[in-house]
Amino acid sequence: MSKLLHIDSSGKGNASTTRVLTEYFAKIWKANNRDGVVISRDLLATDLPPVTPEFTGAMFTPADGLTDAQKQALAPSDELVREVLDADTYIFGVPMYNFSVPGVFKLYIDQIVRAGKTFSYANGIPEGLLRNKKLIVVTAHGADYTTSPMKEMDFVEPYLRAIFGFLGVKNIEFVTVAGRDPQVVSDGIELAKRRIDVILAAGIVAQRD
Ligand SMILES: Cc1cc2nc3c(=O)[nH]c(=O)nc-3n(C[C@H](O)[C@H](O)[C@H](O)COP(=O)(O)O)c2cc1C
Repeated sequence: MSKLLHIDSSGKGNASTTRVLTEYFAKIWKANNRDGVVISRDLLATDLPPVTPEFTGAMFTPADGLTDAQKQALAPSDELVREVLDADTYIFGVPMYNFSVPGVFKLYIDQIVRAGKTFSYANGIPEGLLRNKKLIVVTAHGADYTTSPMKEMDFVEPYLRAIFGFLGVKNIEFVTVAGRDPQVVSDGIELAKRRIDVILAAGIVAQRD
């Protein structure tokens, strides 16, 4: 059974560009995959603790030696890791805030990057364990980052490609809306929907690494 993990991280609520587009993606994906399951997670409504001494201590303790307190420290991460391992397709809404990802999305990443679960260091070589996954990132920003010198200020796309690549996701696509003017944003959203139509029409679920 196909599983779509739908994550939102915009702090703009109903005024969000990325939320409109991830919802559009999830709706069409579900229509195309009637037996499929959509797991929707709004990071603004998720318990995302920061990395703490309890968390790091527990993270490097073998499973059979974990205390109850350590198990508790890992519980939010365990749930998020399960979701990301279970799903085969990811639609992530990750707007640009201050040239980077929203703070809640960074907290999310710190919870899902787990040695022995989402990556391994077997034989001293890092290996991503998120295999045969497809990631579509919907991002939005006010300025245009396609050319220098703004291109070097974009820490969203390079970072997400690096971290999810590290975790083993080879198939990554970005859908981007740029601009501040309401008409430009509205036209950008329509264009982005057509991009999503094309991505979904390509039958992404069947792809393998
Ligand atoms: C806190 C905050 C920081 C922002 N930082 C940037 C930025 O660094 N560069 C940029 O081009 N746009 C920036 N913007 C504009 C947003 O990227 C733009 O509003 C976009 O629509 C956000 O996506 P969303 O509507 O899904 O939240 C920022 C907006 C907010 C609210």
